[in-house]
Amino acid sequence: MILVTGMAGYIGSHTAVALLEDGRQIVGMDNFYNSSPSALDAVKKITGKDFAFYNADLRDKEGMRRIFEENSIDAVIHFAGLKAVGESVEKPLLYYENNISGTVNLLELMQEYGVKRFVFSSSATVYGEPDHVPIEEDAPNSATNPYGRTKLYIEGILKDMCVADKKFSVALLRYFNPIGAHESGLIGENPNGIPNNLMPRICQAAKGIMPFLTVYGDDYPTKDGTGVRDYIHVCDLAEGHLAALKKLEKSTGALIYNLGTGIGYSVYEMIHTFMKVNSVNVPYKVCPRRAGDVPTVYANPDKALNELGWRAERTLEDMCKSSWEFVKNK
Ligand code: NAD
Ligand code: WQD
Repeated sequence: MILVTGMAGYIGSHTAVALLEDGRQIVGMDNFYNSSPSALDAVKKITGKDFAFYNADLRDKEGMRRIFEENSIDAVIHFAGLKAVGESVEKPLLYYENNISGTVNLLELMQEYGVKRFVFSSSATVYGEPDHVPIEEDAPNSATNPYGRTKLYIEGILKDMCVADKKFSVALLRYFNPIGAHESGLIGENPNGIPNNLMPRICQAAKGIMPFLTVYGDDYPTKDGTGVRDYIHVCDLAEGHLAALKKLEKSTGALIYNLGTGIGYSVYEMIHTFMKVNSVNVPYKVCPRRAGDVPTVYANPDKALNELGWRAERTLEDMCKSSWEFVKNK
């Protein structure tokens, strides 16, 4: 049985679909801080499969204990966490408590119940301001904000766990920029509040919820002056978790993988592809750079291909179409 924390969230719900379609038994948990129970019904509808679910908070260790007590868990995929960079600067303790203390609670329960496999949602944010691209897994790490520091600290805690317990196996999956939605249109990125990331904001500008998209700077040293990122389809990302889990079933220690495509697209390329494939206008205005942004980030994804046999398959067109398909009728 696999425990999926943060399962009602964006990446958790898509990964739940991939796991159920692979015939895995799962149990989910979430506190719905940034999600809603409707995602769980959608997962059931897509897969035609049922699963146990707990409305629980990582920070409530006794509540979490029930999950371990009532299910025979042999692996954990850990998505639950807060992820808004700006909010983390304003409320660092909330991020340290939720993300780090919450993860420590989870790990203590795993230790108590003898659970040895862990897949962690890390992030390309741990590369800070990369000095070169594409970024390999052994590039230097740094954090530029409290959110990023939670990812770096948790990576460190998990490496320490592997040193202390030779039977423990961990995959640190460093996601680049996940976008897109399941082809059913039933699950996708549905954040509570105002989104920070580019794709949900493109969708809001296309829908007229925002009058225009702010392009954060067109004077970067990139192909057209706008920021370049490695956007990866969330369904490809979900399949990466399955590949990592299979790897952990045959290994111990901490393994680190970039989950990206290896291709960098600019903000203008994103806007124009979105408009073209969806036949919709995205009004935008060029504004000053956003503090903390770097010009160019994209992965070297070779290690995941060589060791997990996984690579991202879906195109930018797929990503833009499916994002809009999910959002347009909401
Ligand atoms: P999300 O907000 O959609 O999902 C996270 C889920 O965790 C939410 O449903 C939220 O309600 C839940 N949660 C938060 N704190 C909790 C707690 N204390 N107890 C129980 N549930 C809690 O985010 P996502 O995009 O699906 O991200 C999943 C993970 O991947 C996060 O850890 C995030 O930091 C990481 N990540 C995301 C991105 C991205 O751009 N989306 C990139 C890199 C890494
Ligand atoms: C992408 C590009 C912006 C919004 C962040 C986190 C990172 C990770 C993913 C979790 C940049 C530009 C954006 C807008 C714009 N999350 N942009 N107008 O900054 O690469 O990464 O999310 O781990 O930690 O920092 O993603 O989607 O915010 O921005 O012009 O309204 O789009 O400047 O070039 P980013 P993003």
